[in-house]
Amino acid sequence: MKVLVIGGGGREHAIICALRKSPKVTELLCAPGNGGIAADAKCFPEVKATDLDGVLAICKSEKPDYVMVASDDPLALGMVDMLESNGFKAFGPRKNAAEIESSKAFAKEFMRRHSIPTAECEIFSNYADAEKYIRGKGAPIVIKADGLALGKGAIVAMTLDEALSAARDMLEGGAFGGAGRTVVVEEYMTGREVTALAFCDGTHIVTMPPARDHKRIFDGDKGLNTGGMGVISPVADYTDELAKTAMDRIFKPTIDGLREEGREFRGVIYFEMMLTPSGPKVIEYNARFGDPECETVLPLLKSDLLDVLIACRDGKLGETKIEWSGEASCCVMIASGGYPAKYEKGFEITGIDGCGATVYHSGTQLKDGKLVTAGGRVLAVVATGETLDRARADAYAAAEKIHFEGAYMRHDIGGAR
Ligand code: AMP
Ligand code: GLY
Repeated sequence: MKVLVIGGGGREHAIICALRKSPKVTELLCAPGNGGIAADAKCFPEVKATDLDGVLAICKSEKPDYVMVASDDPLALGMVDMLESNGFKAFGPRKNAAEIESSKAFAKEFMRRHSIPTAECEIFSNYADAEKYIRGKGAPIVIKADGLALGKGAIVAMTLDEALSAARDMLEGGAFGGAGRTVVVEEYMTGREVTALAFCDGTHIVTMPPARDHKRIFDGDKGLNTGGMGVISPVADYTDELAKTAMDRIFKPTIDGLREEGREFRGVIYFEMMLTPSGPKVIEYNARFGDPECETVLPLLKSDLLDVLIACRDGKLGETKIEWSGEASCCVMIASGGYPAKYEKGFEITGIDGCGATVYHSGTQLKDGKLVTAGGRVLAVVATGETLDRARADAYAAAEKIHFEGAYMRHDIGGAR
């Protein structure tokens, strides 16, 4: 089968590498792809993931048997609906199901309708009302832009001033553009975080090994939120009992609720949860693999990824056995100096070959035959092993061998070294 993957980050590189192992895959394409993906798939760097017309044109000329829409923006724009209506088979939720990620206000109201545990909240589109509510609640409190904001739209405000200025910036200052025109003001929750990714065919849901992202830029979870600086899997404090509670109170009610509302979810669903003293609660949903959760978890999959993706689309997940290696995995992200604020691009990258771990490319580009940095998050360095300590030691040993000007990584992914 000829498979086209839509996206151009580490997540898409990990998907391409997993698909390459399938004996059924004869050809891999990726739009736009990146400097690393180009070694594993035919890339279309001029076609952005959000370019619906451009992707349709590729489909018409290349005639892929299956299109895997991996990143959030095209799903929110309805790329799967568009591909299906043009007769192409596609993996990923349709636009109305992807809304659980693309609108936090929709997701919060959906959870309220279906009694799914999450932080209490109110939704505002006018600053005066938001201010009154925030002053009434006090800090700490969480202010979130409604729409997609590259993982940076949530402000955990520890003081009233911080909360008010975040709400003002979004509602009146144009922060996050249209995504911030509506804000969700949310109760501050405490506890450890865990991510459950799951395959879903609209009715059945099969979870993947649990993962823990490290979202802040600095060690000790300090500094600004990023798209994710490193992930471990599995997560020792997410017990089987907690997983069962989450399945009964969160995962199943979410999938059933979406189906009942005519928003059947077929694809990968991502439950970001806080393990609070009163049980797991949803922080947010995503309608796709996380990045770098995908790079961390997919190397543990023993089954053929293509079979699983097809089963999701065809409603056959109940009949499909999905096997995992049972190992631990650790991903360390190497970023450009300055990220998630301003950073420079175009620095040559060396040391990947023979570094001793799997390296997925996030923000890289081939320029005059050289591999250079082309984004905030540059490389996801991943190692698996019998124990998390082994995986972590191997991932860090490999990451230390990779160089480019300004390269930055956290040193405490999965605990202090
Ligand atoms: P989000 O963009 O919704 O995934 O939020 C980014 C990060 O902000 C999460 O990983 C949490 O660490 C933090 N966060 C979000 N919502 C809350 C909340 N209600 N209480 C405490 N922390 C939160
Ligand atoms: N790593 C977080 C995300 O993909 O949303």
